[in-house]
Amino acid sequence: MVSPRTIEIVKATVPVLQEHGLTLTKHFYQRMFNDVPELKNIFNMGNQAGGKQQMALAQAVLAYAENIDNLAALGPVASRIAHKHASIGIRADQYPIVGRNLLASIREVLGEAATDDIINAWAEAYQALADVLIAAEAELYRAAQAAPGGWNGWREFIVDRKEPESELITSFYLRPADGGKLPPFVPGQFVSVVVHVPQLGLEQIRQYSLSEAPNDSYFRISVKREANDPAGMVSNLLHDTVNVGDRLRLAPPFGDFYLHEDRETPVVLISGGVGLTPMVSMLNALAGTNRRAVFVHGARNGRVHALKGHVEQIAGEQAHVEHVVFYDEPTEDDVLGRDYHIQGVVDLEPVRARVELPDADYYLCGPQPFMMKQRNTLLGWGVPSDRIHYEVFGPDQQIAA
Ligand SMILES: Cc1cc2nc3c(=O)[nH]c(=O)nc-3n(C[C@H](O)[C@H](O)[C@H](O)COP(=O)(O)OP(=O)(O)OC[C@H]3O[C@@H](n4cnc5c(N)ncnc54)[C@H](O)[C@@H]3O)c2cc1C
Ligand code: HEM
Repeated sequence: MVSPRTIEIVKATVPVLQEHGLTLTKHFYQRMFNDVPELKNIFNMGNQAGGKQQMALAQAVLAYAENIDNLAALGPVASRIAHKHASIGIRADQYPIVGRNLLASIREVLGEAATDDIINAWAEAYQALADVLIAAEAELYRAAQAAPGGWNGWREFIVDRKEPESELITSFYLRPADGGKLPPFVPGQFVSVVVHVPQLGLEQIRQYSLSEAPNDSYFRISVKREANDPAGMVSNLLHDTVNVGDRLRLAPPFGDFYLHEDRETPVVLISGGVGLTPMVSMLNALAGTNRRAVFVHGARNGRVHALKGHVEQIAGEQAHVEHVVFYDEPTEDDVLGRDYHIQGVVDLEPVRARVELPDADYYLCGPQPFMMKQRNTLLGWGVPSDRIHYEVFGPDQQIAA
């Protein structure tokens, strides 16, 4: 238990530290990477360079420390962090590294204002948060290892097939190099992949949702080539240099965004762009049931619409599955082929009668503004917030305003 005095000091200093947020965060990372350079292999250097600092670790610690008197309220957030950490392979013995660099950064940024009382209070608060995460991660590692076909750490997989799904998205079919079994997972979950990135001289880890339902022979990931300037490091390496017969190292599946398979109520899967990957896994699992499902997807046009034929086929064959496709910039071919249902970005209002289903679960995955928009529409219809689930393909960001 954290002492009342500590709670008081921590709460009083959170705003001051947040005021120095960017300085503190930059200082913290520089300090930690100087202290333990190997950590650059586990942090996403694209996020570091791309200015997504606001969601970075140091800031998160500050934000969560505000709830230090009510750690139970952190439950869902802690669960998400623990799944991400477990997928990266964060170990209990790495917590003191973060702790000492965070405390030293607080001291260095606040200067004389950082009294011993303040530093001691932060040390206690950090440890309390660390204890919650370490325990949650230990349980995830235990379960991953104990599952039939399960493992801990990195396992080698061989690329069995490499299949373009659109101009931008390519699927990789992966089977264990050791010929062993695959563990079960829940549709919606992801794996981490680690690759050596020559331009950095480092390893880098990225998460990819499993895009196929659980099966005995392979995992499938479907990767979008991040073609922006600067080009995404890992996605381009996968597209350009990883071919059939090559090996990739994977962490076991984790993730707290998943299909609630214990329910029989309807499911509405709403995705934008590459956000369709976890949805296709869910859809494929649902195809073997009688559960009503609506697959709503938005893409720019048919050229970048991945797995189109596959979803069409399921919706065509299974009376309990419907799909709705939005294109905001359809090509002439799309118009001629009537390859989409509605022109524009995904908007649930015009299809309300098809997607507002009794007691449904709604799963969202796409860019953050996309998810905020759909969530607001659903909340406006009176859908309870605990029936709206979402996955962010990047550093954790809350889509709730
Ligand atoms: C749970 C989860 C599931 C995911 N599932 C999928 C999936 O199924 N399919 C999929 O394709 N992706 C998925 N992702 C995203 C994936 O993990 C990667 O983030 C994505 O492939 C991009 O990685 P990258 O190395 O190619 O890009 P990075 O090199 O990490 O770059 C990411 C972005 O940052 C920008 N950037 C990089 N450096 C700079 C700089 N110096 N200045 C400004 N901007 C910069 C790049 O332009 C790019 O837009 C998922 C992510 C998560 C968290
Ligand atoms: C109390 C301590 C910690 C807190 C509160 C914390 C919090 C977070 C949060 C909120 C995220 C983002 C999660 C997401 O994207 O969904 C994250 C990611 C991450 N954390 Fe932690 N963390 C802690 C300790 C650690 C430790 C000890 C390490 C290991 C050195 C670590 C390494 C990472 C890495 C590598 C990521 C992924 C970031 C990236 O992709 O660059 N964290 N953490």
